[in-house]
Amino acid sequence: MKEPKEVDGIFQADNPMPEWWKLVWLLTIIGSIAYAIYFHTASSWGQDEAFKIEVAEHEKKFGSQKKIGLTAEGANPFRDDEVAIADGQKNFGICGACHNADGKGLVGPSLMDDDWIHGSTDKEVYAVIMKGVSGEKLKLGKGAMPAHEKSLGSEKVLKIMAWLAKNNPSLKKGI
Ligand code: HEC
Repeated sequence: MKEPKEVDGIFQADNPMPEWWKLVWLLTIIGSIAYAIYFHTASSWGQDEAFKIEVAEHEKKFGSQKKIGLTAEGANPFRDDEVAIADGQKNFGICGACHNADGKGLVGPSLMDDDWIHGSTDKEVYAVIMKGVSGEKLKLGKGAMPAHEKSLGSEKVLKIMAWLAKNNPSLKKGI
């Protein structure tokens, strides 16, 4: 150990730091470099990727939360989609009780003719099926058209409409 140095009457000692302390310091430097290289290149912990993985896990558990609805132009996104149309035909079963299995009408009106008492566009028909028709809005006086927003949800309703559109060209695309 060197003699303490004196500057203006103040003594400055020269005590080296303990070896173990210097070793810890060195290890943190090496560790930080390794950390930076690994997490910026090799790992799957990047924000974007970690987010995607979490979303995928969440969807696996709770199903996709993607909202399916009309397009910005008010059109049915499932038009002409054969898989969706086949699905829609199956789901039309619960409508068949009132509209007949072929959609040609029973207590509810025919959905296969050119007559649309509540509007003939995707947007209007979507609103009728999702919200239902009741009270003063009823036009036929044969009972209410039930809402299907909760029982079926937008995706199934739009698929049913794709099937209707395929079989009834008078159901117009858009607003
Ligand atoms: C309980 C019977 C009943 C069920 C079930 C039912 N509807 Fe209706 N629906 C009606 C009645 C009654 C009307 C006519 C309402 C009125 O008088 O305005 C109607 C009207 C409609 C209209 C409007 C038709 C037009 O000319 O504007 C559409 C579209 C429709 N239903 C589709 C469906 C679909 C799709 C389903 C199945 C998801 C369904 N309905 C289930 C009874 C029913």
